[in-house]
Amino acid sequence: KLLTNEELYRPNFHFTPKSGWMNDPNGMFFYKGLYHLGFQYYPNDNVWGPMHWGHATSKDMITWKEEKIALYPDEMGYIFSGSSVVDVNNTSGFGSLKNPPIVAMFTYHDAVKAKTGAIDFQSQAIAYSLDEGMTWTKYKNNPVIKNPNLKDFRDPKMTWDSIHNQWIMVLAADVETQIYRSSNLIDWELASGFGKNLGVHGAPWECPDFFPIKVEDSNEMKWVLLQSINPGGPNGGSATQYFVGDFDGKTFSIGDTFTQDLNKYGALWVDHGRDNYAGVTWSNVPDADGRKLFIGWMSNWQYADKVPTKNWKGSTTIPRELKLINVDGHYRIVSQPVKELDKYISKTIKKELLSIDKTTVIVDKSTADIARLDIRFTMNGLKEDKYDFILSNAANNAVHFGINKKEKFFYIDRKNASQTTFSDVFANKISTAPITSDFISMEVRILIDKTSIEVFYDNGKTVMTEIYFSDKPMESFSIAKSNSNFELKNVIINQLNN
Ligand code: FRU
Repeated sequence: KLLTNEELYRPNFHFTPKSGWMNDPNGMFFYKGLYHLGFQYYPNDNVWGPMHWGHATSKDMITWKEEKIALYPDEMGYIFSGSSVVDVNNTSGFGSLKNPPIVAMFTYHDAVKAKTGAIDFQSQAIAYSLDEGMTWTKYKNNPVIKNPNLKDFRDPKMTWDSIHNQWIMVLAADVETQIYRSSNLIDWELASGFGKNLGVHGAPWECPDFFPIKVEDSNEMKWVLLQSINPGGPNGGSATQYFVGDFDGKTFSIGDTFTQDLNKYGALWVDHGRDNYAGVTWSNVPDADGRKLFIGWMSNWQYADKVPTKNWKGSTTIPRELKLINVDGHYRIVSQPVKELDKYISKTIKKELLSIDKTTVIVDKSTADIARLDIRFTMNGLKEDKYDFILSNAANNAVHFGINKKEKFFYIDRKNASQTTFSDVFANKISTAPITSDFISMEVRILIDKTSIEVFYDNGKTVMTEIYFSDKPMESFSIAKSNSNFELKNVIINQLNN
C-alpha cells in the first residue's frame, strides 16, 4: 500500500499548520503556563501569499494546538514578522495591572504601494490582546514607526531590558540592525545602528533578536544579537548568524576577540544546516526558569515553496535552549533540544559499546520507529578520517551525515534522499560546517523525524538541521566502516511518542 503524502511527510514531533503555508515563527511569548507560537501564515494556499499571523499554543513546546488566526492582513498591508511581549506593568495602558495586555509588534508590508515603485512600503505597527493572547486588537494610531525611506525595514523584536529598565526593540533596516527604546511600547526612539560592516552581508538582514544572557559557569552577562540573512547562509540561501558583545542601554558593541573571530570565520552561525531560518526566542520565560528558548523555521527560501508536501508547507525546528559559553575567551552559542522532549521518550534502547569493524546497523525498524528518534552517543578517539552515518530504507533512499576529520568538516548529504528534483539547489551539493578544534572525544545528539534531521555535535557547539523527502519511511540507522576499527560508546536510542 502506498502511503499518502500526509502519512509520509507530516512530522511526528515538529509543528506544522494543518493546512496552508508557514514561514517564520512570530511573536512567541510564555504566559500562564502556555507557550504561544505565532507564525507567518497564508491559510489559502500552500505557497507564500498575503501574510497573516497564525497561532498555536502548547504546554511544553512539543505538542501544539493550532488556535484561531491571530492577525489578518488589512488595508494597511500584510502582517509580516514581529514579536510579542507580556506588558506586566501595563506600561502601554492597553490593559490593567490585573489583566496585563500582551502587546505584539509586526511589520505592515503594503503590497499595493510596493507595486507603485515607492520604496517606503514597510512600517511597524502594534496590536494588543486582553484575553491572554487569544484575540487581538490593532492599535488605532498605527503605524508606530514610519518608514524612513528604506526598502527593507522590518521584523521588530521587542524585549524587556531589566538591566536598563526599558523596552528595547531591534529591527532589520537594510544592511544593519537598528536598536530602538521605549517606555510604553508605543513611542519608540532610535538609539543606534549595528553591524553595517560586520558579519555576512550582500542581502537584506531579516528577523533580528537581541537579548542579555548569562555566560555559563560565571556571573558574567553578555548580549547576543541573532541576525538572519537571506541569501548568504554558509551552505546557500537562508541562515542565522550571531554576534556577542556588550550593550550600554543604547549601543551594542562587540569586543576585539569577537571581531577577530569574525575576521577569521566571516560569521558565526546558529546552525550550519540549510533548514533553520528566522529563528528567535520566547519572551516572558519566567526568571525562575531563565532559559533562552529558541525556535526556527525549518526550511530555506531557496526551495521552501517547492517541497513536496501537499496540504501544508513549512514546519518549525525542534525548540532549543540556547546557552552562551566562553571557550578560552571566545564566546559561543550552544544549542540543545529543550528538556521537555524527554517526556516523550516511550522506549529506550541502550548499547554501552558498539565496535564498528564493518558497516553496522545501530537501530532499525525491527526495534524502533526510525522516524521518531532521539539518539545520543559518545565518540572516543576520533582517529578515523571519516565517520559516515546513514539513514536509509529498502527503496535505496539514503541521507548521509557525519564527520570528515581529514578535511575538517561536519556534513549532511541528502543527494540520495529520493525527492530532490523539485529544486535545482535542494541537493546540488553536500552541506558542511567547519571543524575548528582537535577533538579527541565528542558527544553527539541526533533528532530524526519523518522529514528532518537535526544534529547537535560536541554538546551543541555545531548544529546542522536539514529536511529531506524520501519515497518511503526511513527504516534503518547505521554507520559505515572506516579505515580501522573504532567504537561508539554509551549509545542511547530513544523513541519519542505523543
Ligand atoms: C523572513 C521574512 C521576513 C518577513 C517575512 C515575510 O523569512 O522575509 O523578513 O517579515 O519573511 O513573510
